[in-house]
Amino acid sequence: MDIVVLAGGYSHEREVSLSSGSLIANALMENGHRVILLDLYFGTKEAASFEEAYHKLKKESYHYKVEKHIPDLKALKTQKEKPNELIGDNIIPICQTADLVFLSLHGELGENGQIQAVFDLYDITYTGTGYLGSAIAMNKILAKEVMRQNGVLTPEWDVLKEGVTTTSMSVPCVVKPDASGSSIGVYIVENEEDLEEAIMKAKEYSPTVLIEEKIEGREFSVGILDQQALPAIEIIPKTGFYDYENKYQEGATEEVCPADISEDISDRMKEIALKVHHALRLEYYSRTDFMVTEDGRIYCIESNTLPGMTPTSLFPQEAAAVGISYNELCDKLAHLTL
Ligand code: DAL
Ligand code: MG
Repeated sequence: MDIVVLAGGYSHEREVSLSSGSLIANALMENGHRVILLDLYFGTKEAASFEEAYHKLKKESYHYKVEKHIPDLKALKTQKEKPNELIGDNIIPICQTADLVFLSLHGELGENGQIQAVFDLYDITYTGTGYLGSAIAMNKILAKEVMRQNGVLTPEWDVLKEGVTTTSMSVPCVVKPDASGSSIGVYIVENEEDLEEAIMKAKEYSPTVLIEEKIEGREFSVGILDQQALPAIEIIPKTGFYDYENKYQEGATEEVCPADISEDISDRMKEIALKVHHALRLEYYSRTDFMVTEDGRIYCIESNTLPGMTPTSLFPQEAAAVGISYNELCDKLAHLTL
């Protein structure tokens, strides 16, 4: 197949997305497909179709590393004005002449349904969930409302709309932008005096902020692949919580898969992950995150429609635990859509 792996974009998770995309592109090439890795933000000035892009841009292999710090998007914006830089106005023609667009976008418009809706209009086939499920799942508040309507336990929450900076929630709590990923803009607040600052910082990423009660317990994630739940993975950061640095710096977090938990907890998490996958209108694959208390209460935190596929990411590790290699996983995700 001729496959465009679409990654990057103007998102705080662009480095994560390029890291996922480079591994996906390499895997698909090893599987015998003709592949180009295209940055949604830059596009390419050098080609107007897949064929041209393939001949001009194809590489033996791709490699992107996620740096420790969240990328500065303002700095990126200045790069785009330079002459000879790649531009984004030919993404559609290139994607239209490919057999498939493998979405490796994380955050903002790549994950919130906007790009999916545009591709639907142009009849472009892409991997993963369509625009509706993407929009619902990316909005953490809407997703929690749907979970609650479906009887799924999720931490109590408060919504601070634009201009509002005070909350009825007490500490300890978790402050997060309403639509972001990779823990960007997420703060765990233990003391009352730190709450306002955390709210202000989270609001730098989104005008609407979500405050959740902090659940004490163990952290897990469960992937869904083609209607089946994968084994739960436990996430144990060596220090602090599972933030941006602990997610993408190798060795910063221990991941145990299959998780060392009772069959009962494992089965219940799988059941909830599947239920939430359907309730949020997700398709083909997803990954749902949980906190589990010592007395066995399972709290669903959120579902991810385009789970990370980086060297440290959870979804590929869960697939590997049932004997699906990274290369097989990429081919499966590609074929599920067709
Ligand atoms: N948002 C990141 C990529 C994840 O959920 O894995
Ligand atoms: Mg997420």
